[in-house]
Amino acid sequence: MNDNQYGSMKLKILNVVGARPNFMKVAALMDAYKKYHEIEAKIVHTGQHYDQKMSDTFFKELGIPQPDVYLGVGSGNHGEQTGKIMIGFERVLLAERPDLVVVVGDVNSTIACGLVAVKQGVKLAHVEAGLRSYDRGMPEEVNRILTDQISDYLFLSEKEAEKNLHKEGISLENVFFVGNVMIDTLYKHLPHAQKSNILEQLAVKQKQYVLLTLHRPGNVDNIETFTNIISAMEVLEKTMPIIFPVHPRTKMRMENFGLMDQVNGMTNLKLTEPLGYIEFLRLMQDACLVLTDSGGIQEETTALKTPCLTLRENTERPSTVTFGSNQIVGVDRDRIIAEGQKVLAGKSKVSGAPELWDGKAADRVAEILLEQGLKNRRQG
Ligand code: UD1
Repeated sequence: MNDNQYGSMKLKILNVVGARPNFMKVAALMDAYKKYHEIEAKIVHTGQHYDQKMSDTFFKELGIPQPDVYLGVGSGNHGEQTGKIMIGFERVLLAERPDLVVVVGDVNSTIACGLVAVKQGVKLAHVEAGLRSYDRGMPEEVNRILTDQISDYLFLSEKEAEKNLHKEGISLENVFFVGNVMIDTLYKHLPHAQKSNILEQLAVKQKQYVLLTLHRPGNVDNIETFTNIISAMEVLEKTMPIIFPVHPRTKMRMENFGLMDQVNGMTNLKLTEPLGYIEFLRLMQDACLVLTDSGGIQEETTALKTPCLTLRENTERPSTVTFGSNQIVGVDRDRIIAEGQKVLAGKSKVSGAPELWDGKAADRVAEILLEQGLKNRRQG
């Protein structure tokens, strides 16, 4: 192996994390890199999510090494947040001079750091590439399209995603179908999660509760949609208790929209703070039904074979519906009630696992990155 232009023998990879759903993905990658002494991996945390319950807890529980760099950008409007991340990350790149930047998922930190990397001439890898909801009203959709357009290496969690990239004129030469790195983390931590006493703490029993999460701006920033969902819960809670860990955005909206009294008046709906990874994993596994607007939870419930109803009109993760336990039900009150009641009555769809969701996706990513990184050095 030759010395690289910056004098380091190892392939230096900067891994970007920013928001909660990034942590489980980078946890798997960091584990995989450890198997290769030729790789030096560092973590840059943008600080998009900063609350202890939205960030620190995940580092501890998932055993992710502490970030080498913390940008501390915090919350803000999209332009402000993205801009701050770009300014901070450019300084880091200039100081660190890595061979590769790895971004995951579809949050603002993903596109912000990706854009800085390519402008600095650093190779960019996108893990979880090619997913499309075809709804540009979602900020994440814009982040996905743009990140994929500028990435040098694109790693797919599901096969279908290849078609989306092809349609957008992206050469498939550097597109790799590797499976789902987030599911690697799920399998690793499942035995630990099974020992969690969160069910006892919340006084619910296995398969006798519903788990609800909401945080998408399309749902919680719109008073009518949010109210519809809550009023569907008012009916479902009569059949089974509902556990609702509340995202900070959602909490803020419930307060702004004056929904707190209604929610607090629902005796079978239990609000909690955002939960840690291990407790939440146990809750997903043992729920009778999960109701969510999250992308990651659609995938995690598929891996766990727990019935999931997605409260959105589309999904960028179609394999969770084709193979998995997920159904897209939208946000109409009556439809949520009808589909929810069916599952609570035991009528859920038969589900299987998507291809390559086998716990080894991050190993494939690491191997390919090393191979490609070394190839670049030889050519450079
Ligand atoms: C972000 C991602 C979304 C992802 C979600 C997971 C973008 C565009 N969106 O959405 O794709 O599904 O994370 O949670 O990147 N807040 C806190 N503490 C925190 C973080 C946020 O109080 O640690 C509050 C702030 O009031 C903030 C709001 O939550 O304004 C929203 O946070 P933000 O990071 O802008 O977006 P999310 O809705 O979390």
